[in-house]
Parts: sequence; C-alpha cells; structure tokens
Amino acid sequence: MAHQSLESSGYRTAPLLDFVTRTIAREAAVLREIRETTEAKGLPPISVGPDEGRLLHFLASACGAKKIVEVGTLAGYSACWLASALPTGGMLHTIEYDPKHAKVAEENVALAGLTAKVTVHIGAGTAVLPTLEKHGPFDLVFIDADKTGYADYARWAVANVRSGGFVICDNAYLFGNLHRDDLPAGHDDKPKVAPMRAALSMLADETLFSSCAMIPTGEGMALAVRR
Ligand SMILES: C[S@@+](CC[C@H](N)C(=O)[O-])C[C@H]1O[C@@H](n2cnc3c(N)ncnc32)[C@H](O)[C@@H]1O
Repeated sequence: MAHQSLESSGYRTAPLLDFVTRTIAREAAVLREIRETTEAKGLPPISVGPDEGRLLHFLASACGAKKIVEVGTLAGYSACWLASALPTGGMLHTIEYDPKHAKVAEENVALAGLTAKVTVHIGAGTAVLPTLEKHGPFDLVFIDADKTGYADYARWAVANVRSGGFVICDNAYLFGNLHRDDLPAGHDDKPKVAPMRAALSMLADETLFSSCAMIPTGEGMALAVRR
C-alpha cells in the first residue's frame, strides 16, 4: 500500500469533489462570478479552483496574515480569496505583468468590495518585488506567476517574510514534470524545471524554514513556514 494516498484511491470522484467544494470551499457568489467570467473577458482560465481558493483563505487565516504579497494576479480570483481573510487595515499587494489582466483584476476586486485591501501592481515580479520591501516584513507570500521566475520569487520571499509566516508556491508539480530529467529540448516545461526545483529546495531547507509540505492539490501547492 506504499504511496496509496499519492495514487488514485478511487474515492476522489467528480461528484464527491463537487460535494466537498459546496460544503467546505463555500465559494461566495461574487467569487464564482469572477471565476466564471474570466475566460469571457479574454483571460486564460488558469485561476486556482474554489478548493484552492479556500485553502489560501485558510492559510492566510492560520498565520493571522495582515500583509500579503501575491505574484501572478490574472483576474484577481485568488487575490479576492486571500484578501477576504485580511482584517480591516490589512493589505494584499498583488503583481501582474499584463496590464489587461491587471485591469480586469481591479474591476473584480471592486466587485468583491475588496478595493481597500488590495493593491494591484503592474509589472514583472522581479521589478516590482523590490519596491514592496518598504511595506514588509510580510506574513504570507503566494507565488503563482511565470514558473521560470519561481527561484527569484522564493529568494525574495525568504528575505521578506516574517518568522512564522508562510511561503506558498502553486503548480509545484510543474504539470507533472517536476521530476523529469529527460524532457526533450524545446519542451515547454524544460526551462521551468530548474527554477521550480530551486524554489522548492529553498522551501525544504530546514535552516530557512521550520517545516515544508507539498499539499496534494491537483497542481501541487508547496507550503513552508519561515524560521
Ligand atoms: C496562473 S496566473 C495567476 C492566477 C491567479 N493567481 C489566480 O489563481 O487567480 C499567472 C499570471 O501571472 C502573470 N505573469 C506572467 N509572468 C509574470 C511576471 N514575470 N511577473 C508578474 N506576473 C506575471 C500572467 O500574466 C498571469 O496573469
């Protein structure tokens, strides 16, 4: 039965997962609207799902987050989940490279009534992150942008997350290719393997983080607690 939990147990059927989503994730109507209109607004449908959104909300609540940084905004779906866990006066800084995505995100954040808790920064993660340092240290950093940038984002997070704060990387399974040393030249994920592994090995470094885990969401979400 080794690694049974990592293989299909047969329990995770679509109806069961739908039930859990309804009863546990309890996605607000406005968040559902934001998620379901993303594609119609011309953005790719690559937001986290409602279960992952709820997980992010849980994690922000668990570390008592007041200050959060997100790299990779898209339509602001995960930003709204994270920001809805913030107390009054809390702030989520979210970074988006594509101005069209950032504009939709700002509209969606307003729709969710979260404008006072979210600042959308337009630009590349590596360019914007240094400008946020004056607002730190941060309670939580969520990395969900270009995979080739993950090592840079994780390095920044190590330097800017408080002791006890969380660093979270989405898509940590790298679309099933995290472990592959044999990807052919030209494969989309080939240049992403080294930076993703570098980011994850930082999170697993016990001198930097007191604990690290891979949460087995569909995409893999790596989580570590800063020492
Ligand atoms: C997977 S989507 C983010 C999804 C979002 N976190 C959610 O779940 O609702 C990745 C986003 O990162 C943005 N992006 C890509 N490269 C970037 C970079 N270098 N800096 C900042 N954002 C970037 C993309 O334009 C895209 O909107």
